[in-house]
Amino acid sequence: VEYRHAPRADHTALSPGAVLVSAPGHPAFPVRLGLELLGRCLDHLAPAGPVTVWDPCCGSGALLTAMALGWRDRLRAVAASDVDPEPLALARRNLALLSAEGLAERATELSRLEQLHGKESHRAAAQAAAGLAAGLASKGGDLPAVVEPVDALDPAACATFARRVRPDVVITDVPYGEQTQWTTTHGTAGSPDALVASLASALDPHAVIAVVAQDRKVRLSDGTGVLERFRSGHRAGVIVRAGARQPSGR
Ligand SMILES: C[S@@+](CC[C@H](N)C(=O)[O-])C[C@H]1O[C@@H](n2cnc3c(N)ncnc32)[C@H](O)[C@@H]1O
Repeated sequence: VEYRHAPRADHTALSPGAVLVSAPGHPAFPVRLGLELLGRCLDHLAPAGPVTVWDPCCGSGALLTAMALGWRDRLRAVAASDVDPEPLALARRNLALLSAEGLAERATELSRLEQLHGKESHRAAAQAAAGLAAGLASKGGDLPAVVEPVDALDPAACATFARRVRPDVVITDVPYGEQTQWTTTHGTAGSPDALVASLASALDPHAVIAVVAQDRKVRLSDGTGVLERFRSGHRAGVIVRAGARQPSGR
């Protein structure tokens, strides 16, 4: 992938395990790639006012939180959902970092840990939390966040959620079949194509959907108009407009 929006930089402050929390079994997504992806999606919406971003397979919410902290000045709100309610507790903790209060609490927690264990990593993370708080304040302040369980393969559940949240951009990192699996109550076999179909049916036609998978290519049904494709290491991604996957005349 050619980085047009996310210059090479030290992204430790946004990486899981420092200020953002992580847990075993929740695959980490490269911060720089996440920032680049949202930048590209914003380009496809231009000219646009503040936008709402939804991650419908959010897991720990780390990807969405990092993207939101990086792009705060272009956002109105974020929404996180996952079929599995278990990681949503982590997602709530991470998305709480999109507020001055959440970042201050996390900085205090990290300082306490530093006093307890004398670890340099905790001291650096506490400092990073303070830096993120200053950045958030200068780029628009607290960002509203919604976190809920939703089966993204269920078009009706997506439609109900999207009607309320009104996402302009959907960005997600789908299950790879190693640490995380597709699950659904809807009877549809999980795949990026099934996900795009379900999401597109729920979104405004102008909304933009970016899906990343650990694969050589994200396969979509023949005839799906694609805005862009990209590769990064062992991941592949695709960006499509929701309307390109909706029955014509909608
Ligand atoms: C690769 S992980 C996402 C990791 C995430 N980007 C993070 O930062 O933690 C994929 C997620 O998809 C979720 N998932 C599986 N089937 C789903 C479905 N039908 N609807 C919504 N989420 C689903 C899994 O529970 C898992 O949390």
